[in-house]
Amino acid sequence: MRVSMIGAGYVGLVASACFADFGYRVTCIDKDARRIAALNGGELPIYEPGLHDMIAANLREGRLEFTGDTASIAESDVVFLTVGTPSRGGDGDADLSYIFEAVRTIAPLLSDTAVVATKSTVPVGTGDEIARRIREARPAAAIAVVANPEFMREGAAVYDFKHPDRILIGSDDARAQAILAEVYRPFYLDAAPIVHVSRRTAELIKYAANAFLATKIGFINEIADLCECVGADVQDVAHGLGLDHRIGGQFLHPGPGFGGSCLPKDALALIKAGRDHGRQLRIIEAVAAANDARKRAMAEKVVAALDGSVRGKTVAVLGLSFKPNTDDTRESPAIPLIGALQELGAEVRAYDPAGMEQMKLLLPSLIYCGSAYAAAESAAALVIATEWEQFRALDLDRLKSIMARPVVVDLRNIYRVEEMRRAGFRYVAIGREGVA
Ligand code: UGA
Repeated sequence: MRVSMIGAGYVGLVASACFADFGYRVTCIDKDARRIAALNGGELPIYEPGLHDMIAANLREGRLEFTGDTASIAESDVVFLTVGTPSRGGDGDADLSYIFEAVRTIAPLLSDTAVVATKSTVPVGTGDEIARRIREARPAAAIAVVANPEFMREGAAVYDFKHPDRILIGSDDARAQAILAEVYRPFYLDAAPIVHVSRRTAELIKYAANAFLATKIGFINEIADLCECVGADVQDVAHGLGLDHRIGGQFLHPGPGFGGSCLPKDALALIKAGRDHGRQLRIIEAVAAANDARKRAMAEKVVAALDGSVRGKTVAVLGLSFKPNTDDTRESPAIPLIGALQELGAEVRAYDPAGMEQMKLLLPSLIYCGSAYAAAESAAALVIATEWEQFRALDLDRLKSIMARPVVVDLRNIYRVEEMRRAGFRYVAIGREGVA
C-alpha cells in the first residue's frame, strides 16, 4: 500500500507516522520547504508525546519520507488531504483555500484509480466540490473522493490514531470503500468499527462530534457556576452524572472554557453551516457564546481571591497551552485571562512546560519563567490555567514560603479543597466551595 499525505501539520504528521508504523510506505508532502528540511533533520514543528521517536524510527527504516516533491502522488493508492482549515474570520466559516490549492496540485498527478481521502475537517459538501474539481481536471479517470475525518486529540494523538473509537469512511463508491477498509486493516486487531456512511454524512459527523463535546464541557461549566452559588461540589456532580451510561463521564471536567484549534472553530463553522441553510443552531450558538464569556470572566476569580483588586500585584500563571501535553496555545483560556489581568494592572509571571515559545509570539510583554516555582516567586496569587502533570503535586510548603500571599486559584480543580486549606492557602477552584 502506497500512501501520500498532503500537509505536514498536526493530523498529517501523526497519520503519516502511524501508517508508516503499520508498515506502509508513506510520503508526507508539504510546500513549506523549511518545515520539510526541519522534519528531515529530526525536528518537529509540534510537541506531541511519542511522535518524535516514531517519526525518527520510520525515517530510519525508510518507510516514511518528508518532501516538497509531488512525484509519489502518481504511485499512491490513497492520497490523504491533511491541510489546515482555519476559521476564515468574521463569519466563522472554514477557510478552504488550502484544500482547494492541494486539489489543484494533485489533480493532474493522481493515478487514474487513486482514492483521495479528506482528513481535514471540512464543511458538508466540500467532498462534492473536491470531486467536481478533480472530475473537471481528469474527466477520463476513475478517481474517488472519500470523507475520512479524524478524531485524534492533541496530546494523545498517537494513541487516539492507533486506537480509534471508530473509523468513518464517507463514500458511496464500493471500490473506494474497499481500498480504505484495506488501509485501515491493521486497526482490526483493536476491533475499531469501520462505519460506512455517505460523504456528506461523514463530514457532518465530524462537526457534530466536536459540537457535542463542546456542549458537554459548556454544560458542566454552567453547572459548576451554579454549584458555587448553592454550595455543591461540581466534581461530585460530574461523577454522579457520568455514572449514568446514557450520559458518560468523559468531557465533564469543568474548567476555564474550552480552547484549542478545533472545538471553538468547529462550533462557529457549524453555526455558519446552519445559517447558510436557514437553520439556527441555538444550542451550539449558546455553547459558543457561553464559552467566550467564561474565558473572559476567569480573571474575575483572581480579582475576588485578591480582595477586589489585582492592581500593582504580581500574579503567577501556570499553564499557557490550551491543555496539557501540547505546545499549542491557540484559543487557550490563558490568553484572555492574562490579557484581562494585565489590563487590570497586574504584573503577570508565567510558566508552561511546552507552550512558552508559542505564547511569546502572542504576548511578548509577559514575564516568562523557568519553572513553576520561579513564576510563583513573590506572587500575590498563583493561577493554575492548564492541568500539566508537573503542576499536580507542587511542594505546597515551598510555594507558600516564596509567594507574597498564599493564594491559589485553581481553574482545573487539580487540588483538594481540604489539602489546600490544611496547607494554609486561600484556595479558589471551579464549582467547589473553596474560599478559605
Ligand atoms: C478535539 C476533539 O476532542 C478530538 O476528538 C478531535 O479530533 C479534535 O478536536 C479535532 O477536531 O482535531 P483537541 O482540540 O485536541 O481535540 O482537545 P480536547 O481534548 O477535545 O480539549 C479541547 C478543550 O476542551 C481544551 O481546552 C480542554 O481543556 C477542554 N476540556 C476538555 C475541558 O474543559 N473539559 C473536559 O472535560 C474536556
